[in-house]
Amino acid sequence: MSELQLNPDIKAFARDDSRPSGEDLRPPQGLTRFYQLANNENPLGPSPKVIEALAAVAPTLSTYPKYTDIDLRRAIAGVLGRGISAEHIYTGCSGFESLELITRAFLAPGDELILSSPTFTGAYSKISLPLGARVVDVPLEPETFAYRAEAVLEAVTERSKLIMLCNPNNPTGTIISAAAMAKLMRELPERVLVVADEVYHHFVDDVDYPDSMQYVLDGKNIVIVHSFSKAYGMAGLRLGYGIARPDIANYIAGLQRGFHQNKLALAAGIAACADQAHVQKAIAYLREEARWVSAQFDRLDIKHWKTATNFLLFETRIPAADLQGRLQARGFRLRGQTGNGLPYGMRLSLGTREANAAFIAALTDILSAA
Ligand SMILES: Cc1ncc(COP(=O)(O)O)c(C=O)c1O
Repeated sequence: MSELQLNPDIKAFARDDSRPSGEDLRPPQGLTRFYQLANNENPLGPSPKVIEALAAVAPTLSTYPKYTDIDLRRAIAGVLGRGISAEHIYTGCSGFESLELITRAFLAPGDELILSSPTFTGAYSKISLPLGARVVDVPLEPETFAYRAEAVLEAVTERSKLIMLCNPNNPTGTIISAAAMAKLMRELPERVLVVADEVYHHFVDDVDYPDSMQYVLDGKNIVIVHSFSKAYGMAGLRLGYGIARPDIANYIAGLQRGFHQNKLALAAGIAACADQAHVQKAIAYLREEARWVSAQFDRLDIKHWKTATNFLLFETRIPAADLQGRLQARGFRLRGQTGNGLPYGMRLSLGTREANAAFIAALTDILSAA
């Protein structure tokens, strides 16, 4: 063991068995319900057609899946339309892995990835630091969380390889405007690849949201990442994909393991694509919940940001770590944003109306007692 040499280029992350997921959470003593509103999941879940597809595949699990994911890629391309083909797509075992395949394909030790905090910093660091790359932060504007395209362009160096555009952004729920993205796409050097992490794109209802797919069709240096975890309601399945110029998509797909996608994911993804009515229902439901919760925050004079997603960032006068604990004691799990540099910031993942109303009642109670 002592003879083992660690790779000096790799920053290893500690294993964390203690971080609770929704599955682990139990109601605090004396409570019967526990509301998991911390992971930006979709409370409506997947299409019944997905469940049927999973049941149909289950008896065949003793044999390997098809080697190629071409059927799933065709199904995804069919949903995206606009001339996007299976050649523009690679799949990943989650949106997270679809992002990781990009960093593995493009980052060498000493290269730089630029992100704009507060954002999905933990994940972006986890998929780049182990490769020996550096993470460069060009923060969003304070308060408005507007993207600073000019500042990002100024931060670009010879070693810059990837620019992360989390759009809509987690944890702020805000968008990067079409104008900001256009400036970046126009002025970035050719050697830089833009990564548009758009896993929440379904929920956006804003004319200022960029048409990033057009950049792919125009042959620009961009990869867009989507996920089946959010609007499709399939976070437990871990399925995602990237969209890029065919040469980029093929290059990234070359990193996939043999039999990369399992049979359940392949069948479920195809079934999910075939039921867009279900996805539209979820989008309409969650947009309405975003409107309803925002109106409650307005009524209660709670500071919050206009969301383009299925979650909301808000602030109260109680420090986030403290409020997270008080909410948890009442059976609500939310994610405090201290680690993202927002000591009073709390992120609420939208649940059903029943869950959201129960949360608002609990928060009202906590604030009136504070
Ligand atoms: C901004 C962003 N990107 C990517 C992901 C990864 O999604 P998944 O790995 O579940 O597909 C998430 C998940 O919460 C996210 O918030």
